[in-house]
Amino acid sequence: MQLRRRMLTSAIALSMVGLLAACGGDNAENTTPTNDGGTNEPVNEPADNGEANANNGNDANMNEENGEMNDAAGDGEQVTLTYARGLDATGATEVLIEAFEEQNPNITVEFREMPADTGASRDQYVTEFSAGDNSIDVFDADVIWPAEFAQAGYVYELDRFIERDGIDMSEYFEGTVDSGTFDGRLWAMPKFTDAGLLYYRSDIVDTPPATWDELIEMAGQFAGEEGTEFGYLMQANQYEGLVVNAIEFMGAYGAEVLDADQNVTINSPEAVAAIEKMMEIAQSDFVPSNILNFDEPATHTAFLEGQAVFARNWPYMQAMTEDEGQSQVVGNVDFALLPAGDAGSAAGLGGWMTMINRNSEHPEEAWELVKFMTGPEGQKITAIDGGSAPTLRALYDDEEVQNAAPLFANEEFVSTLENAVPRPVSPIYPQISDIMQIELSRALAGEITAQEAVENMEQQIEAALAE
Ligand code: GLC
Repeated sequence: MQLRRRMLTSAIALSMVGLLAACGGDNAENTTPTNDGGTNEPVNEPADNGEANANNGNDANMNEENGEMNDAAGDGEQVTLTYARGLDATGATEVLIEAFEEQNPNITVEFREMPADTGASRDQYVTEFSAGDNSIDVFDADVIWPAEFAQAGYVYELDRFIERDGIDMSEYFEGTVDSGTFDGRLWAMPKFTDAGLLYYRSDIVDTPPATWDELIEMAGQFAGEEGTEFGYLMQANQYEGLVVNAIEFMGAYGAEVLDADQNVTINSPEAVAAIEKMMEIAQSDFVPSNILNFDEPATHTAFLEGQAVFARNWPYMQAMTEDEGQSQVVGNVDFALLPAGDAGSAAGLGGWMTMINRNSEHPEEAWELVKFMTGPEGQKITAIDGGSAPTLRALYDDEEVQNAAPLFANEEFVSTLENAVPRPVSPIYPQISDIMQIELSRALAGEITAQEAVENMEQQIEAALAE
């Protein structure tokens, strides 16, 4: 593990990043034993008016005086929940569901797989939820969705469940709780957190690159060794992953998309330097010729086949690299912080939360599933079987977790997770992301310069914010 020596520069760069306000909220939800039907009131119209109407419709389910546990499942009724999330290449989802069903014999969970691409998943959820569809009860939400979904009235508010069941949110990483908080209330429980990492072949590389320039040099030099074909893999397809990769370069070179006052600050020499570095890599001969089609699954497939020396990916890939059934590089992989630019090293913040469809007919059972998956037992399964980073601090001291995923025993990695760089925090994030995806993609393809890309992004993001 080579994380320690570069932690300092990274901490300096990352400490510049401000996180959102702490989770507040005393308002919550409560269903009564007989009120499953109470969840069926008309669905909120999706709010595209920018108004916070997140609580619309929720009050019918609230029972302010009654703090009792209302367990519709307690009467022995058999309930089937549908749980949705994107492709899980690690197999952890099956283990999670099995463990939950074993402890809740009255609940059956049907799994629905959504697209691996987070943007495509979001579009599908928005289509269903805005039509009042109740076929999905519980779903995993990317950290960039909760504010939008809460505002649109697609999901249950969770504070009452949390209070009733005595869940202490201070045991979770603050930033992950912030991601699930909108309008002072919590709408999503943190399931796992993500930060970009540099994976490398320890049978080829002794000391991982400290800077992006060193990475470029080493990737060019080592490509071809030990049966590899490529020096570096990243996510350069035109989708959300491209934005995260760009945010990491921008963080490393001291650029940001929006400042704290939501001014668009992307047209800066720092952003140009960041995008130029990214272009240099994407256009180099040490990446696959189809790098502009690469997403996370393409990255892990090629890396596990032993095709590349370095790869940028999320923590989930660590579990796969050591799985003999999937990996040809078992024992030959180590991790490091992403390389630094002029301003240090920056890891993009990702992660997934769990939410309940506002139209679910089984909110109590849905909450039981959410509570299990995001509680210590569920997160331990996700960490051990899925290789994904817990949002509960205590699990980093758990021996079984540490043994299964050495990355989680590394303090520097844990602080990288806590300091990762969020994407722009804005109610119109999906639009900002679309603009960035298009312009970055054109730059990486060599159709426009980095300067043109930042000018276009500036102008379009400003127009979108002004709408
Ligand atoms: C990972 C992250 C998520 C991000 C996505 C981009 O799933 O956890 O936050 O949006 O990658 O592809």
